[in-house]
Amino acid sequence: MKLLDKEFDLFLSHEEIEKRVKELSEELDEQYKDRKPLFITILNGAFIFAADLMKHSNIQSEISFVKLASYVNTQSSGEVNQLIGLVENIYNRHIVILEDIVDTGYTIQNINETLNNRGAKSIEICSLLVKPDSIKVDHKVKFVGFDIPNDFVIGYGMDYEGFGRNLKDIYKIKS
Ligand code: IMP
Ligand code: MG
Repeated sequence: MKLLDKEFDLFLSHEEIEKRVKELSEELDEQYKDRKPLFITILNGAFIFAADLMKHSNIQSEISFVKLASYVNTQSSGEVNQLIGLVENIYNRHIVILEDIVDTGYTIQNINETLNNRGAKSIEICSLLVKPDSIKVDHKVKFVGFDIPNDFVIGYGMDYEGFGRNLKDIYKIKS
């Protein structure tokens, strides 16, 4: 598959993704059923993951969105910019951060710090993908869809230079 100037191979099919997302949603329901969690989705990448998770969820919860960006081209820049902020009251809330992918971990560290300063009661991370060999911060991702190698991926919300978010399956870059 070609997107812009790069070639990609199929990596995770939408069937595999859907199955895992449903399992994650059931796990979250079980752990958060009496806690009225606030799900905070990191835009843009996590919008499809968050929507699919929520469709399977059967507990009382709220969902909100922040827009953060750290990626330039196919590399993390190490600097996280907040492009759209958070208006909800965070104090005393149980927060679950929804991410598409944790790479260096700088993004989740940044949002975690913000939420801590605003008095969240608990904060956990739920990420569809994690690149364990790439993480540079000491932060545990409690709910993980798939651990993946350090290759650049697209699809299911994730982009290359803004393109490819609409792909149903997840593809990884050809080496
Ligand atoms: P981190 O701050 O390095 O953990 O990067 C996290 C953000 O970078 C994610 O929310 C994604 O939006 C983006 N990102 C990281 N790895 C990839 C990738 O392989 N493909 C597309 N986007 C990625
Ligand atoms: Mg993202």
